[in-house]
Amino acid sequence: DKKITIAIDGFSSTGKSTVAKRLAKELGYVYVDTGAMYRAVTLYMMRKVFVSEGNFDKEAIVRHLPFISLRFEFDEDLGYGHMFLNDENVEKEIRYMEVSQQVSKVSAISEVRKMLVEQQQEMGKSKGVVMDGRDIGTVVFPDAELKLFMTASTEKRAQRRYDELKGRGDDVNFDEVLQNVKDRDYMDSTREDSPLIMAEDAIEFDNSSMGLDDQFEEVLKIARDKI
Ligand code: C5P
Repeated sequence: DKKITIAIDGFSSTGKSTVAKRLAKELGYVYVDTGAMYRAVTLYMMRKVFVSEGNFDKEAIVRHLPFISLRFEFDEDLGYGHMFLNDENVEKEIRYMEVSQQVSKVSAISEVRKMLVEQQQEMGKSKGVVMDGRDIGTVVFPDAELKLFMTASTEKRAQRRYDELKGRGDDVNFDEVLQNVKDRDYMDSTREDSPLIMAEDAIEFDNSSMGLDDQFEEVLKIARDKI
């Protein structure tokens, strides 16, 4: 068997990470959640109050990037990972709605992207990796052997995200979640640096009506054909 690079991109809450994690577990590959990296940087900047509802200090954000170290620990057996920000486990906090509402502003900054893309390329350089995000097949690994682009209707995605947050005990309302999904779709696909677009050689998966289990089986088959 040869080891390949699997890039999974798409809009928020399309089930990317669910498929990516299962794929990594099944193949014994490393899984990298790049969204968690952008979220962790955002959390750091929110704590410094460089970014908030009414404030966005791009210069301060760029100046503080060298003070951030990120580590993603993935447990292949458990099939999930934890994001560490300067050695603090922030896995739970980076999923909060407050972070979701600021992350697309921070991820649009070129200096932020440059730093994280370099780290992602380093993490994937020995292959045997499943990476999910927005620009993996277009910017991070344009030569990935397998590229998937996941889509689903906005309502379906918002519902999934809402169920997930509720299931964790977060106090959110559906309209707020739907609005956040729409806002991020818009910001992520219209930003100047590395906007979310489907790579020409990506395979598109619309799972609006497809169950994630069926989808996983199909993806696994395609992946095995390439290995
Ligand atoms: O994947 P997730 O929804 O956790 O990503 C959070 C945000 O991080 C996205 O809305 C986007 O702004 C940013 N992101 C990005 N590039 C990636 C992964 C995530 O800009 N490769």
